Amino acid sequence: MNPMRGMLLAGSQSAWLRRQASRRSFVRRAVSRFMPGETLDEALRAATVLGGENMGVILTHLGENVTGRSEADAVARHYAEMVDRLIASGLDAEVSVKLTQLGLDLSPDLALEHASALAARAAGLRGRFWIDMEGSAYTEVTLDLYRRLRQEHERVGVCLQTYLRRTASDLESLIPMGAGVRLVKGAYDEPPGIAFRSRQEVDEAFFTLSCRLLDPAARAAGAWLTAGTHDPRLIARIEAHADAGGVPRDAFEFALLFGIGRAEQARLAGSGRRVRVLVSYGEYWFPWYMRRLAERPANVGFVFRKMIGG
Ligand code: FDA
Repeated sequence: MNPMRGMLLAGSQSAWLRRQASRRSFVRRAVSRFMPGETLDEALRAATVLGGENMGVILTHLGENVTGRSEADAVARHYAEMVDRLIASGLDAEVSVKLTQLGLDLSPDLALEHASALAARAAGLRGRFWIDMEGSAYTEVTLDLYRRLRQEHERVGVCLQTYLRRTASDLESLIPMGAGVRLVKGAYDEPPGIAFRSRQEVDEAFFTLSCRLLDPAARAAGAWLTAGTHDPRLIARIEAHADAGGVPRDAFEFALLFGIGRAEQARLAGSGRRVRVLVSYGEYWFPWYMRRLAERPANVGFVFRKMIGG
C-alpha cells in the first residue's frame, strides 16, 4: 500500500485530528470540493441541479460508529425527514446509510429496527434504499442484516467491496435473492490476508463481478448492478461488455461521488447511460474526507494549495 494512503487511513480514526481539522477554515474550504454543504437543504439543492443534468442522486448524511441510543435515534429521524423530502421533491433519488450510524455498535437489532423502518418509508422513492459497506469487522453482520432486510423490502441494496477476497462468494449468495448490489473497490485499510493489495487484482475483480451481475440469469433473478467507480478504464470496459451482450441501457447504472470525475459524469449522462451522483453532507465529515484523500494522495496537494491560496 502507498505509505501516504496508509497514513491518511490511520489518521481518519484520530479524534484529535478530527477536532483540529474541523477548526481550520482551509480544511473546510478543501472539503467543499466533495460536498455541497452541511445541511439537507444544501444537499437537496445540489440534487436538483444534478437532476437538471439528467443524473439521479444518492443522498447520505455523514456519520458512523455512533455510541449512544439517542444519537442513533436522532440519525434515524434525520434520515426519515430526508426520505420524506426526497419523495415530495419527485427527484430521481436514492438514500444510503451506514449501519454503524443507526446503532450497529450498540446492538444489531437496533440497527435493523431503524434500517427496516427507513426502508419501508423509502419504498415511496423511485430508487433504492442502500446499505453502505464499512470496514471488514462489519462485513458479516452487514450482510446478515441486509439479507433480513431484503426479505421484507424489495428495493433495498447493499454495497460490496471488490478488494475483499470473500466478495465473489458473497455475491453468489446474494444473486438468487435478487439483491441490488453497488460494487465499489473499497475505501478502508484491510490486511492482505483478506484483501487484494494490487490495483490490478481489485480492478479485475470489479470487472468480473460486474459481468456476473449483468449476465442474463442474474438479471432474471432480479439482481441489479450499480457500478460505483470513477475509474474511466473500468467504466469503459463495463460499457463495452454490456453493449456487446445486448444488456439494455436501463438495466444497470454507474454511480460516482459528488465533485469527483465530473467530466465522466457528464459524458455518461450525455451518452444516455444511467448515472447517479452520491451526495454526502453533514457536519461529521472528517473520517469520510480522509478516505477521499487516501484514494488519491494528489488531493493532499489540493488541500495545501487551498491553505496557501484560499
Ligand atoms: P480509483 O481509486 O482507482 O480511481 C480512479 C480514478 O478516479 C483516479 O485515477 C482519479 O482520477 C479518480 N478518483 C478516485 N477517487 C478520487 C478522489 N477521492 N479524488 C479525486 N479523484 C479521484 N467504499 C466503501 O468502502 N464502502 C461504500 O459503501 C462505498 N460507497 C461508495 C459509493 C459510490 C457511489 C462510490 C463512487 C464510491 C463508494 N465507495 C465506498 C468508495 C470506493 O470504495 C472507492 O474508495 C472510491 O470510489 C475510489 O475508487 P475508484 O473506483 O474511483 O477507483
